[in-house]
Amino acid sequence: MNILVLGGGGREHALAWAIKQNPKCDRLIVAPGNAGIAAIAECASLNAEDGALVVTFCEENAIDFVVIGPEAPLAAGVADALRAAGIACFGPSAAAARLEASKSFTKEVCDAAGAPTAGYAHFTDLAAARAYVQAQGLPIVIKADGLAAGKGVIIPATMDEALAALDDMFGGAFGAAGAEVVIEEFMEGEEASFFVLVDGETCLPIGTAQDHKRVGEGDTGPNTGGMGAYSPAPVLTDAIAQQALDEIVRPCMVEMARRGTPYQGVLYAGLMIKDGRARLVEYNVRFGDPECQVLMLRLGAQALDLLLACAEGRLTEARVNWADDHAMTVVMAAQGYPGAYQKGTEIKGLDALPEDSFNMVFHAGTRDEHGAVLANGGRVLNVTARGATLAEAHARAYAMVDAIDWPGGFCRRDIGWRAL
Ligand code: AMP
Ligand code: GLY
Repeated sequence: MNILVLGGGGREHALAWAIKQNPKCDRLIVAPGNAGIAAIAECASLNAEDGALVVTFCEENAIDFVVIGPEAPLAAGVADALRAAGIACFGPSAAAARLEASKSFTKEVCDAAGAPTAGYAHFTDLAAARAYVQAQGLPIVIKADGLAAGKGVIIPATMDEALAALDDMFGGAFGAAGAEVVIEEFMEGEEASFFVLVDGETCLPIGTAQDHKRVGEGDTGPNTGGMGAYSPAPVLTDAIAQQALDEIVRPCMVEMARRGTPYQGVLYAGLMIKDGRARLVEYNVRFGDPECQVLMLRLGAQALDLLLACAEGRLTEARVNWADDHAMTVVMAAQGYPGAYQKGTEIKGLDALPEDSFNMVFHAGTRDEHGAVLANGGRVLNVTARGATLAEAHARAYAMVDAIDWPGGFCRRDIGWRAL
């Protein structure tokens, strides 16, 4: 079958890598792709957020199955356009993608489903929001309602900072995303991510992971898109995963179907775990990046069978074959990230690294220039390894990091410290 993957980061490199190993895959195109993806698939330039263009591209290239990586095409209705054109597609409709695109919508769904999550209030008016925060006091969490590229959540250290955040959000700092604000109870605990495939009715867990959001060692410094991840997440025990499935994910999916907007795709539940129980922090309607990289290295070729079963409503008959293994990914980023950073620095030493089912360097922001690999973004490489233990995966990943010659880049040396 001919398969199109939309996206061009480390997540899509990992998806393409797993898909490519499955004998069902004949032709693989990734749009836009990157320098790493170009080594295993055809890369095409295509506006992935324009459903009509994506449908035309699929018709011209006889595409049988589309896998949508990032949230923006989902929120823009690309999955709807594909399904309306009769093209099989992995990813939720725009209506179901509101679980990521609107935090107040998610809270409403949780309320209706009885799913445990932080207490909250929803505001469209600055004065009311300020009064509420002053009455509640700290700690508190302030969220722009819409998609804000991961930057719309503020956990203020002082009341002045809280009020300034509200002024910014209502003042347009996040554009339309900040015109509505959700204010939440601060939840204590340890965070972990739970990935579940959903075909409208059936929910099939496909793995757990933890990531490191802060740029600095010991989880300090500014927030980033993620500096590393590992799977499985030891804090998310089988019992807690079952509770999260029974009390959070499944009731919310039943509620989505009841509303006439059934969910189809991967649901990424961000959980807060305390005293042996999980509460929902947020949903994302896509794989995490870099969490996808560790999940794909563990799943390998069966990932395509699972994504197809999900898209075709056959999850009741699907099984995940888990090896009893661990994977870790270390993000290498351009010096300066998440602040200002340089593009175009050269990365050497990649050709000498092993590429097999235990060791893979997934490319996030890279481009090829006359055979040289150049950094082309903030998060640039995802150095990913698998082993019988997390310590083994850690040793393999850092051995690869140490063999990469890239003075323009850096990484955290302590990925996985909590679990190790
Ligand atoms: P979100 O975009 O909703 O995942 O929020 C980003 C990060 O903010 C989460 O990964 C948490 O670390 C933190 N966070 C969000 N909501 C809460 C909450 N209610 N209590 C504590 N931390 C939170
Ligand atoms: N790694 C966090 C995310 O993909 O949202």
